Amino acid sequence: MTDQTTGGDVRLTGISKTYGSFTAVHPLDLTVPQGSFFALLGASGCGKTTTLRMIAGLEDPTTGTISLGDRDVTDLPPYKRPVNTVFQSYALFPHMDISENIAFGLRRRGIKSVKKQVDDMLELVQLGDKAHHKPHQLSGGQQQRVAVARALINHPQVLLLDEPLGALDLKLRRQMQLELKRIQTEVGITFVHVTHDQEEAMTMADQVAVMNGGRVEQLGAPADLYENPRTTFVANFLGTSNLIGAEVLETGSDVVVSAGGATLRLPGDRCTDAVRTGGGLLVGVRPEKISLTHADDADTIAGGRNRVTGRIADSSFIGVSTQYVVDSPAGAGLQVYEQNIERDARLVPGAEVVLHWNPAHTFGLDADQDIDAGVETVEDAS
Ligand SMILES: Nc1ncnc2c1ncn2[C@@H]1O[C@H](COP(=O)(O)OP(=O)(O)O)[C@@H](O)[C@H]1O
Ligand SMILES: [Mg+2]
Repeated sequence: MTDQTTGGDVRLTGISKTYGSFTAVHPLDLTVPQGSFFALLGASGCGKTTTLRMIAGLEDPTTGTISLGDRDVTDLPPYKRPVNTVFQSYALFPHMDISENIAFGLRRRGIKSVKKQVDDMLELVQLGDKAHHKPHQLSGGQQQRVAVARALINHPQVLLLDEPLGALDLKLRRQMQLELKRIQTEVGITFVHVTHDQEEAMTMADQVAVMNGGRVEQLGAPADLYENPRTTFVANFLGTSNLIGAEVLETGSDVVVSAGGATLRLPGDRCTDAVRTGGGLLVGVRPEKISLTHADDADTIAGGRNRVTGRIADSSFIGVSTQYVVDSPAGAGLQVYEQNIERDARLVPGAEVVLHWNPAHTFGLDADQDIDAGVETVEDAS
């Protein structure tokens, strides 16, 4: 049935969803490669669940088509799609033991001899010794593994996971991230994983689609998204970025800009296409790329590095690193992460410092966007 040359990619073409006058998902084209671990990442309300539910067939798209391999499934009801979903709430049957829970999908299809398949699944999720326990006797993480086994026993082509780790505490969530990744690698089927947690998406996924306001803002491998964000939203939502408003002085293979009295350089191929002399640009650099030197030692800094002077406003020691906040004419509240190797005791709040970094680690974004888009607020974190 499925043409081997096209494989079993999940392909969304012009998919959108409106509720009345509200557009939850704007027309969207997306290909999820067969066998990949794919994450849909974005803040609450950006349209992740709606997108997932359209793939599952639980929601009718307003426009567009969905195909699996060369098969158009847009009009198929959920139970006819080779797709299973795991939700945040595991919804296991409380009165059945673990092996009966896992066998449920096979039994419902009238399959009698389920033992071998159930045992394989128990082994896959490493719960062989819990086969005859009831769900309430298992931890949250174990219950979620049962939910995954219960879905995988149906041999779906695609497993959809909607914030499956959302109910777990941080430590367990980290373990389950690795565990789910291992399971996906072992079974080799396509996982589409929805999360609002950028670390989770980066840890687990081969490809991440960053969603914002019902649109995919950028798509790529985790390291590529992190190093080469194209918008302020992606720059701020994935990790932390320092974004500095600047004026372009020169363009070319190196772009030279002026920011708060400092002259900075950045590679032309890491700048937005809109860069032109006399225009504005947001200069971006990640906190861990920056070094801090006390102003008294400024002459020890190697030539050719970007430099910005400032004053330490705040510092927090967090074990592996110290995180500094530095106010400078180029921007207030610049973030710098220094590994704790040889700590300079003079680097305390109030100290005059030079921030310096390799120009190659600098990127440039369009100036005409909200510089704070995607910055996590205290409200979001609660
Ligand atoms: N059945 C519905 N009717 C009206 N609005 C909806 C419905 N389902 C979702 N929405 C809205 O669509 C937007 C996207 O929702 P959702 O896909 O659940 O976001 P996410 O999963 O990213 O948090 C939200 O603003 C939500 O309130
Ligand atoms: Mg959701």
